[in-house]
Amino acid sequence: TTELPIPQPPTHLFTGNLPDTDPSHMLRSYQTLTTHYGPIFALDMVRTRVVYIGSQSLATSLCDESRFTKTVAGALLQVRNLTGPGLFTAHSWEKEWALAHTLLMPAFGPLAVRRMFPDMLDVAGQMLARWQRFGPEAEIDVSDAFTRLTLDTIALCAFGYRFNSFYREGMHPFVTAALDALLESGRRAGRTGLETRVRRWAGERYERDIEFCWGVCDELVRERKERGRADGEGEQDLLGIMLGARDERGEGMSDELVRYEMLTFLIAGHDTTGGLLGFTFLMMLKHPRVLHLAQQEVDEIVGDGPLSVNHLDKLKYIEAVLRETIRLHPTVPNIGLHTKSGEDELIGGGKYRIKAKDTAILGISAIHRDPAVWGEDANEFRPERMLNGGFEALPPHSWKPFGNGVRSCIGRGFAWQEATMAVALILQRFQVEMADPSYEMNIRQTLTIKPVGWNIKVRLRSGRG
Ligand code: HEM
Repeated sequence: TTELPIPQPPTHLFTGNLPDTDPSHMLRSYQTLTTHYGPIFALDMVRTRVVYIGSQSLATSLCDESRFTKTVAGALLQVRNLTGPGLFTAHSWEKEWALAHTLLMPAFGPLAVRRMFPDMLDVAGQMLARWQRFGPEAEIDVSDAFTRLTLDTIALCAFGYRFNSFYREGMHPFVTAALDALLESGRRAGRTGLETRVRRWAGERYERDIEFCWGVCDELVRERKERGRADGEGEQDLLGIMLGARDERGEGMSDELVRYEMLTFLIAGHDTTGGLLGFTFLMMLKHPRVLHLAQQEVDEIVGDGPLSVNHLDKLKYIEAVLRETIRLHPTVPNIGLHTKSGEDELIGGGKYRIKAKDTAILGISAIHRDPAVWGEDANEFRPERMLNGGFEALPPHSWKPFGNGVRSCIGRGFAWQEATMAVALILQRFQVEMADPSYEMNIRQTLTIKPVGWNIKVRLRSGRG
């Protein structure tokens, strides 16, 4: 094959292609550019050249871990101000990544996640009780509710800590500080160092937010260490493992790394799953047929008794709904990669050159709608395509909401169990409707995406609750 130039929009004198993108809404920018330039295009982002890849066939080269590896640049690099070399923001070559990966993988394996079911149920129960008390006329802010749910769940399951978000009016101050720090990290990625220094007030606020988040984590560690001394034995949740585990060379995690990982899990472990739940309910409510089938499945398999962990695997239709929702709305819409060898790589069977210094963007949201894989109805919400072997028969790398290879999501099983459980519990107890059926999807993007500014109403089903 002969090498082809990568399409690129015309550049501006000092700003390259910066004016062609909106840093607060990269997803939309990439979508617009894809319609003009096709599934691969380059952008001059002044400090780096970015090559966006949005088809399954090109993704196959990019997902080859012997040739490409995760890049920590742009917003992710700024998030390191918060989470340092924690798992999500570590460079693949950092020894902190290898250590935490080895020590923490078992804590999120299938058996460990099953054991977390009672804690997950505990937090979800608080949400349902609150909704029930509100009554059928109250409007529930979906994004707010699922943020509370997922934050409380990861904190309880991983650290034995209760944020008690369902017992307070506003958000826990940790959430506000972490979210503000994330937003500022994103903005910093789009500015020059000088601009950032000029905005001193934003800088001071940023530092305060970060200090506050660290303080919350340090306090949890201190409490746990004291309790550990009192009990004489450590608890075996994630925090217990982080404080006690050693790798085969006897190396453990420093207190500083523990803090970074805690913050990593609190951030990576809630916004993503919260977004998935938000999109799932929005898609079901916009497709009443799907909502009806999902509820029917819960009635058949769980009935009106207590939900158990053994029910979850049997909820095949709900699983298909989640898979289809995250296909159309992957809460992590793209990930960054660069060549592993430090030299140029040709992709697409020798057609396109990814230069050593480029950031290659794996456009998950575009791959998930690639008509070559998903057909002409790629943009339609049709959970049935994920049933009866449809999911298993997909070509490689066409459904990648949890990322690629060794740097893929450590919390996948956790997120899936939590989301399946929440959908089942809500449908079992309530008839859900949109407060404003004319709501048009409004997506807020930080590192993740979620639909915001919409409410639901819930009515207790007869004989439930
Ligand atoms: C990594 C997606 C839930 C913790 C990732 C990556 C993706 C992802 C795409 C790779 C990012 C990259 O390559 O830059 C999701 C989605 C979730 C979810 C869509 C929910 C629907 C969770 C949960 C946790 C978690 C619940 C924690 C319990 C992490 C961590 C990493 C990661 C620590 C970094 C892993 C590493 O590089 O070693 N996730 N995630 N995620 N996720 Fe998740």
